[in-house]
Amino acid sequence: MNIGIIGAGNIGGNLTRRFQELGHKVFVANSRGPETLADLAAETGATPVTVEEAARSGEVVIVTIPQKNIPGLPRDLFAGVPDNVVVVDTGNYYPQQRDGRIAGIEDGMVESRWVSQQLGRPVVKAFNNIYAEHLLKLGRPSGTPGRIALPVAGDDERAKSVVLKLVDELGFDAVDAGKLDDSWRQQPGTPVYAADFDAEGVRRALASASKERKPEWRAKSDKAAQTN
Ligand SMILES: NC(=O)c1ccc[n+]([C@@H]2O[C@H](COP(=O)([O-])OP(=O)(O)OC[C@H]3O[C@@H](n4cnc5c(N)ncnc54)[C@H](OP(=O)(O)O)[C@@H]3O)[C@@H](O)[C@H]2O)c1
Repeated sequence: MNIGIIGAGNIGGNLTRRFQELGHKVFVANSRGPETLADLAAETGATPVTVEEAARSGEVVIVTIPQKNIPGLPRDLFAGVPDNVVVVDTGNYYPQQRDGRIAGIEDGMVESRWVSQQLGRPVVKAFNNIYAEHLLKLGRPSGTPGRIALPVAGDDERAKSVVLKLVDELGFDAVDAGKLDDSWRQQPGTPVYAADFDAEGVRRALASASKERKPEWRAKSDKAAQTN
């Protein structure tokens, strides 16, 4: 499969590594341009591209950049990209440590719904609740006892099934976590966040999540986030 990845940091870099190992063809972009991705390309065989090219080079396009930078992506990034291209959001809102205040989310919008609105595209939420290093190193063959499971949420069943399959290929049980508006159940501060549960544990954790955003996951000031 051709996979575009926008963001080449902890998560984008490790997804590039794993997908290339699995035989997929990755087209990866960062904010500074393809020439700055020579090392990752040499290590993995992935193709460094611009952000616009990454959005146009995959059957799946994974957006994995800090939440505050989402509004700074090129306008109309996905204009002309076929509807059947699956867009994945790995993002988390870290208002106090990184992102500043994002009004829509503070006002109650589910994080990935906000991302979807910004991108003007439906998204599937996945990979947001596992540490990048665990994503790289803790994948195991299907059937391994205690295999870590990852929740996947989205409105389009076909798109979600594509991502569920990729999660399994990466070495994790994939748990259908419902629609995008259910994806608050896997946001930071919920029981499933960074917990490395198996499938049964993920289902239990999603079911026991509480919708109220905890103070540590809210912005401290009313100042709007800077975008760059
Ligand atoms: N780290 C984790 O363990 C983890 C786990 C699950 C989910 N997440 C979430 O996944 C997202 C990515 O996290 P991360 O830890 O991988 O971030 P990171 O290590 O800080 O990397 C961010 C990447 O995004 C790129 N980027 C930033 N703004 C961009 C723009 N406007 N256009 C194109 N590329 C841009 C950066 O490129 P440059 O370097 O060129 O600026 C960099 O490659 C975040 O929402 C994070 O909360 C992280």
